[in-house]
Amino acid sequence: MATSENERGTTLRAHVDLPLAVDRHSPVALAVQVADQLRDAMRGGGLRAGERLPSSRALAALLGVSRTVVTDAYQQLYAEGWLDGRRGSGTYVADIPATPVARAVSAVPVVQAGPADPADPFAPVEAGLVDLRAGRPWVLGHDAAAWRRAWRRAGDAPPDDRPDPRGHPDLRALLADHLRTARAVPVGPESVLVTRGTGHGIDLFAASLLAPGARAGVEEPGYRVARHVLRARGAEIVPCPVDDQGVIVDELPDDLDVLYTTPAHQFPLGGRLPVARRERLLAWSRRTGALIVEDDYDAEFRYDVAPLPALYGLDPSRVVLLGTLSKSLSPDVGLGWLVAAPELLAKVAARRKLLGDRTSGPVQRAVTTLLRRGDLDRHLRRMRLEYARRRAAVVEILGPLVKGDTAGLHVLVELPEEAVGPLVEEARARGVLLDTTVRHHHGPVRVHGLVLGYGSASLADVRRGCAVIRELAGDL
Ligand SMILES: Cc1ncc(COP(=O)(O)O)c(C=O)c1O
Repeated sequence: MATSENERGTTLRAHVDLPLAVDRHSPVALAVQVADQLRDAMRGGGLRAGERLPSSRALAALLGVSRTVVTDAYQQLYAEGWLDGRRGSGTYVADIPATPVARAVSAVPVVQAGPADPADPFAPVEAGLVDLRAGRPWVLGHDAAAWRRAWRRAGDAPPDDRPDPRGHPDLRALLADHLRTARAVPVGPESVLVTRGTGHGIDLFAASLLAPGARAGVEEPGYRVARHVLRARGAEIVPCPVDDQGVIVDELPDDLDVLYTTPAHQFPLGGRLPVARRERLLAWSRRTGALIVEDDYDAEFRYDVAPLPALYGLDPSRVVLLGTLSKSLSPDVGLGWLVAAPELLAKVAARRKLLGDRTSGPVQRAVTTLLRRGDLDRHLRRMRLEYARRRAAVVEILGPLVKGDTAGLHVLVELPEEAVGPLVEEARARGVLLDTTVRHHHGPVRVHGLVLGYGSASLADVRRGCAVIRELAGDL
């Protein structure tokens, strides 16, 4: 909507789009009809104090009535105090406090700004708190000049009138290069589809390749988003236990249609699936016909250990690989990739087109620039060093309590069941926010402790928070 500056310098909406209409067959006078609808809009919140109404000429033309009808309606509303015509030349909604009746009929809920609600998971973290909950990367370490350049370049080309459901060809080729070099996955662009992230990739997979009522194995404990998305697409969730190395292949049922798994760094326990288990997992998939969804969410980060081959690289016919920029850059970018054999990818692309779903073109163009100029690689190299320092601090301070620390941006701090709740509460009182394993379970809690993320807190804060945990854990 266009905006204009009034004489006081406040930005106002130049006019308000309201669904006004007049009924010529009604016994109610036209001016009364217009006034009634405007009054209702002001009561209901559709029109707010300070907003500018269309000129009487413009509104008359819009409604197909004479100008007098509109000026009569406006005069009536002036007289009642709803409108204010003294500021500049326009007609504005007056600043009348809402009456209790007005609130009751309000169609638009008014969000009151106030102190952050502690129960609101979306509320910003209060300043001064150390947030060691898992899931978020460090977003202040990016190269601001490279970031700005990428977005300027994104604006150089006009928007696409017919976006390819697989994503921009240039980006798909660059992502294929990235997968070859960073993950040793030998793919070409024909196997890559650009998504908005992992959750979106799981959704596209389920919408395209799973029948309603399909049996979907999900690691237990595991990534909640995977469970929720698969269930929302009509799948039956089958929890599949994991140990400190990852999913326990020998306990997988034979009647799954798909298994969602995080072999590079099991979420949340942190195991890296050993090669022998990878081979057994693929053999299970070939034998049972189940597909594997490999979530490679934080695989760019590993510490003091040799790389392990992605499942996809071992057998592309059995695996759909999902990657994301959410850890390497930020979830705010909203970009990921789905990698699959070309016949499967064609089904996903066709379904996506039917669903009218896409990834923003300008976002794809900005990421293309970051990849093409090597900015993303440079960023990853810097962040690997940065996260390695934080991870070393966690291991140094918490020592043997730490598990699953060879990759990613989080570790497991295993604790006795009865110690977890009081420790989290006391840490909160001392300004440290912690997450536990509880919400990552689908069924009864099998593993107790903290899922400790060191991605989004500074090194100093990671040290501070871990020292608090160390002190509270005492002799455990
Ligand atoms: C296991 C796992 N997969 C994927 C993601 C990232 O998901 P998305 O790409 O949808 O942001 C996360 C983020 O926390 C995660 O924990």
